[in-house]
Amino acid sequence: MDKIMIKGGIPLTGSIKISGAKNAALPLMAACILTDKTLELINIPDLSDIESMSELLSQLGVALGCKESSQGRVMCLSANNLSSTTAPYDVVRKMRASVLVLGPLVARAGEAHVSLPGGCAIGTRPIDLHLKGLEALGAEITLEDGYVHAKALKGLVGTTFTFPTVSVTGTENLLMAATLAEGQTRLVNAAREPEIGNLAQCLNAMGAKITGIGTDTLLIEGVESLNGASHSVVADRIEAGTYAMAAALTGGKVQLKGARLDLIPTVASLLQQAGVILKEEEDGLVVDAPLEHLQGVDVMTEPFPGFATDLQAQWMALMSVANGASMITETIFENRFMHVPELCRMGANITVHGSSALVRGVSQLKGAPVMATDLRASVSLVLAGLVADGETVINRVYHLDRGYESVEEKLRACGADIQRIR
Ligand code: EPZ
Repeated sequence: MDKIMIKGGIPLTGSIKISGAKNAALPLMAACILTDKTLELINIPDLSDIESMSELLSQLGVALGCKESSQGRVMCLSANNLSSTTAPYDVVRKMRASVLVLGPLVARAGEAHVSLPGGCAIGTRPIDLHLKGLEALGAEITLEDGYVHAKALKGLVGTTFTFPTVSVTGTENLLMAATLAEGQTRLVNAAREPEIGNLAQCLNAMGAKITGIGTDTLLIEGVESLNGASHSVVADRIEAGTYAMAAALTGGKVQLKGARLDLIPTVASLLQQAGVILKEEEDGLVVDAPLEHLQGVDVMTEPFPGFATDLQAQWMALMSVANGASMITETIFENRFMHVPELCRMGANITVHGSSALVRGVSQLKGAPVMATDLRASVSLVLAGLVADGETVINRVYHLDRGYESVEEKLRACGADIQRIR
């Protein structure tokens, strides 16, 4: 299993190109099922989760291929010959986002058989809202042998569905399904993450009729069929927020090419409260470490536009060497503090009380061998290693490869002493 070794203490200086967002690319890829024409996606990141989704779509009969271009990797997908409506357990268990084929398959083919994803390291991750929403649209849902069986042989019918909890992929699944439903669908208390806006714009380019994009109420007028389109994947706000914190943490100055302030509104304002200097430029963001010391700032994770739960572990690494204390409260997932014991092994002073962690800043972290447990926890250990005194070896970096494209190359280009040990 690959490891990553980092020798800390070097301020990051230089520029990093922000990749297309993993959490935008995955639903966009699933959207190809909605049409028999070709969907072209531009700036697709090179990640193992993208490979997993490609593998699943191929098993459904989707023809897909990739080529490099000046605008990044371009993927063409064509679902004009769907040969299966089953997403098997051995693919879904590797990547929960496979559930995103459920809505498109029911809408396009009238049925879907998708393995229940099961829990993961950060929580039980139920999909009850996806299923309740599809039932509200007229699908017949049964659960058998660990699979969801969804049927709507006469097609889906528009309705109003209110999410009791904000759900990102729940919103995406129902948004995609509703584009081909008969009549109007209103999704109330819909998630507002930028990846959903990116998906809605792509669906409209394919001929869908969606309004309310960017708000918590999405209105969809169903259409008979959708066409192909060419659409760009939005920049990855979680990657941008991660590298912004890496620059601040190491006392460096980094240009994040393609990053946008409007994608990370709350993170940006909290970074500024901590003393970090952010400057928006033509082609991205320049992040400069504080003139004085980093200040401790409290954080609570919330759905967009609140502080992203996917940046909580990284914020904890940042606060572990700040001046003063930071109370970090995780409100989205029930088990998203697995990076705490690993950061403490590096000398961080963190105590967990239920869904909150109190971080007391220390003057210096010490390099150590540590264990990655999930995607975002693994990158918080990279951040800690960049600032720690001495050598840090991170085990199980396959977690990292799920969501961070060329992480060593991007950091090494800014001066980091980082290498992968195979
Ligand atoms: C998406 O997961 C992201 N994944 C996650 O990113 C992200 O952490 C999460 O949204 C929150 O922003 C993708 O987009 C592929 P939710 P998702 O449905 O859609 C509960 C990463 O690191 N819930 O918004 O699965 C759920 O338990 C990953 O890139 C239900 O109860 O998250 C959670 O407490 C990790 N029933 C809350 O809602 C449901 O049917 C938010 O979950 C669905 C969700």
